[in-house]
Amino acid sequence: MRTITIQTLQTMKSQHEKFSVLAAYDASLAQLISEAEIEVILIGDSLGMVVQGHDSTLPVTVDHIAYHTAAVKQGAKRSMIIADMPFMSYATTTQAMDNAAILMQAGAQMVKLEGGEWLTETVDALTQRGVPVCAHLGLTPQSVNKFGGYKVQGRDSEHADTIRKDALLLQQAGADLLVLECVPTALAKDITATLDIPVIGIGAGPYTDAQVLVAYDMLGITPHRTPKFTKNYLLENTDIPAALRAFALEVKAGLFPAEEHSYK
Ligand code: KIV
Repeated sequence: MRTITIQTLQTMKSQHEKFSVLAAYDASLAQLISEAEIEVILIGDSLGMVVQGHDSTLPVTVDHIAYHTAAVKQGAKRSMIIADMPFMSYATTTQAMDNAAILMQAGAQMVKLEGGEWLTETVDALTQRGVPVCAHLGLTPQSVNKFGGYKVQGRDSEHADTIRKDALLLQQAGADLLVLECVPTALAKDITATLDIPVIGIGAGPYTDAQVLVAYDMLGITPHRTPKFTKNYLLENTDIPAALRAFALEVKAGLFPAEEHSYK
């Protein structure tokens, strides 16, 4: 696999070639993911739940993400590395710039931030200074206490319009990628067709440009019940490298996610 850059992902979108993303946190798994030709590794703040055992992502700090980013960097030879900015680490543009610098210096090639219109000034400031940004809309887990739980977002037309508008504003502000989490398939399809930047879905149906899962979920490591949008690839494969390759191939072929992993 060639070394993956933003330009690679942009070209893949324009050629209608789907790509895959996994959230992972250590060098060994990052190496296997990279060897399975999965284009992007996300050091997600999901590590607060699947590695640290918390019931939300809120306890995760910039130091935790920086530590795991440095570890992933050792293994991810060709995949692009995105680091999540944790809860309240980008509450102001100045904080975002300081903390993004720590994550980029730890080995990230892009940072991911959760939120809509209020983030446009920050996205502009980061991208102007050479920090690529992945935006994240829909179910943004750092706002679980506002949402009152992990619920599908954008089912009513007013909220769907807000998500559509925010997606366009974030693209205009300079975002390079967008994650859409737990939104109806039709809304994700519409936003993917409207935006020029690649859209990565999780629980957002089969029509986005890419799919992301948490590696611990798709390898059956997560001990508690996993969300309906995930799939345990180790059940159908004999070892971890084969499970990772199966995920990449199913995404590329448009076979994952199926209807049972998606929301109406
Ligand atoms: O933290 C994470 O792993 C994420 C993905 C699930 C998109 O944000």
